[in-house]
Amino acid sequence: MITRIAQVSDGHLSAARPFFTANFAAVAEAVRAARPDLMLATGDLSLDGADSDDDLAHAVAAHAAIGAEWLRIPGNHDVGDEPVLGGRQPVDAARLARWRRLAGPEAWVHDIPGWRLIGLDTQSLTVNEAQWAVIERGWRDAGARRVALIQHKPLAEHAVADTAVNYWPVLPAPRARLLALGTPALVLSGHVHQWRARVADGIPQVWAPSTGFIVGDRWQAVLGEKRLGWVEHAFHADGRHEHWLRDVAGLTRHDIGLLPDVYGAVTALPV
Ligand SMILES: [Fe+2]
Ligand SMILES: [Fe+2]
Repeated sequence: MITRIAQVSDGHLSAARPFFTANFAAVAEAVRAARPDLMLATGDLSLDGADSDDDLAHAVAAHAAIGAEWLRIPGNHDVGDEPVLGGRQPVDAARLARWRRLAGPEAWVHDIPGWRLIGLDTQSLTVNEAQWAVIERGWRDAGARRVALIQHKPLAEHAVADTAVNYWPVLPAPRARLLALGTPALVLSGHVHQWRARVADGIPQVWAPSTGFIVGDRWQAVLGEKRLGWVEHAFHADGRHEHWLRDVAGLTRHDIGLLPDVYGAVTALPV
């Protein structure tokens, strides 16, 4: 028994500002043709859902139009980000309420044969106690199922003992709280706009690339590969997991550093 899952990430979609629409359309066609059992959207569905109903509603509709059963969790461009990071869009009750109204819960549990998927919002772990109830319950009654965490930010840049506080990974304190619940059998994430698949600290971790753009080397260190596409996963009922990066022909390799009209000038971000 195999559950085939398509992971798409970081579409950054907007009807009014359609910079990445053509790339998403090509990926959507490839995912539709693959006929997955389930699709996971791992955050930054929208260009600016953190401030725009229209962007978030459009992005949700564009993903739904692929026609697969699908689940989604938010990214920083959908709900804002951890307040301690000091960005201009701190996650708050209004932003989370917009996500819930237009996209659904920010944390959820979904079982497939042999596995339990726990979706969570890495942008609000320090300020949103409500989602911890979902995450903790998901761990508590997982039974013999393997737990896979589905999230926007990667667990860590390098190792779970990292102490750096920055824009890219889950913050150290909530990371420790997550791992105190158990050791996940797999973590799927997006956010970095780099493809990377590795086992670190004994945990298999897959970073999906964006469907839309990369962040050039002037602005972001290279940890994985700066490519575009989507990821196909095979979850076996016996606990095995396989994955493949799927390239899509004809994608434009946008570099956000060279597109200041999207989010303004990109400043160098530490990794
Ligand atoms: Fe993103
Ligand atoms: Fe992001």
